[in-house]
Amino acid sequence: MKKTKQKNTIKTITDQINKSIVVMSGKGGVGKSTVAANIAMQLSNEKNKVGLMDCDIHGPSIPKIIGAKQKPTQNKKTINPIETETGIKTISIGSLQPETDEPVIWRGPLKMKAIEQFFTDVNWGKLDYLIFDLPPGTGDEPLTIAQILPNPDGTVIVTTPQEVALQTIRKSVKFAEKVNLPIIGLIENMSGFKCPNCQETTNIFGSGGGKKLALELEIPFLGKIPLDPEIMESGEQGNPIVNNKKSKTSKQFQKITDQIKNKIK
Ligand SMILES: Nc1ncnc2c1ncn2[C@@H]1O[C@H](COP(=O)(O)OP(=O)(O)O)[C@@H](O)[C@H]1O
Ligand SMILES: [Mg+2]
Repeated sequence: MKKTKQKNTIKTITDQINKSIVVMSGKGGVGKSTVAANIAMQLSNEKNKVGLMDCDIHGPSIPKIIGAKQKPTQNKKTINPIETETGIKTISIGSLQPETDEPVIWRGPLKMKAIEQFFTDVNWGKLDYLIFDLPPGTGDEPLTIAQILPNPDGTVIVTTPQEVALQTIRKSVKFAEKVNLPIIGLIENMSGFKCPNCQETTNIFGSGGGKKLALELEIPFLGKIPLDPEIMESGEQGNPIVNNKKSKTSKQFQKITDQIKNKIK
């Protein structure tokens, strides 16, 4: 009975969400949250109704990256997501916890419950896009999302160019296939650094490995994002780089977002 009720709730919510995009990677620190936040911001700048769910329970970073400083308010049984100035609705364990340095020490079932509640107990309302920012790997969090979402539109996989990152991507791709999560494509982040003084590009983590791997695995390659100090700074300031219309990197994110939109149309 309880399960049926939950199924109905999930159906009511998913009926209101037009497209769902899961951002993941086999590895930490490759720029998943940065990519998720910039895609969300770009879609929102194009006047879409966008939600961004931070599924990283141990290292939530979305509130900081998109400048969502408030706390979510609560109704009787539901939570209102935070809304950024640009209208992105977002929820994160980082916004719900008191500001301490205490880590969240939760085992699988608790994390799964939290993520489930982020879906069922949050007033998302009608959304054109709901984006899920996942922690690295193929553990409880991605599994929960895969189990909850009846028909996810797909996953965007983020990698950096070097082999230690690329080898984890094979696992992410296999995972997506196993849980019937369509693969929208692969993004190569931190791909080359253009020196602002001499204009020469140095491939700090290598370059081109993402495209090669996408070809090998027969998944679409969505594009490269360079190492750009402005990405890091904009993340620190809570104002994703796509908001800077003059930035070249911003244009890369726009192109990638266009491709994602087209692939899940
Ligand atoms: N292309 C890039 N150029 C410069 N800094 C980046 C780039 N992508 C991500 N970063 C920075 O690297 C750090 C890790 O990125 P983050 O998105 O949190 O990774 P993940 O979510 O995969 O752990 C952040 O400080 C972010 O600002
Ligand atoms: Mg992250």
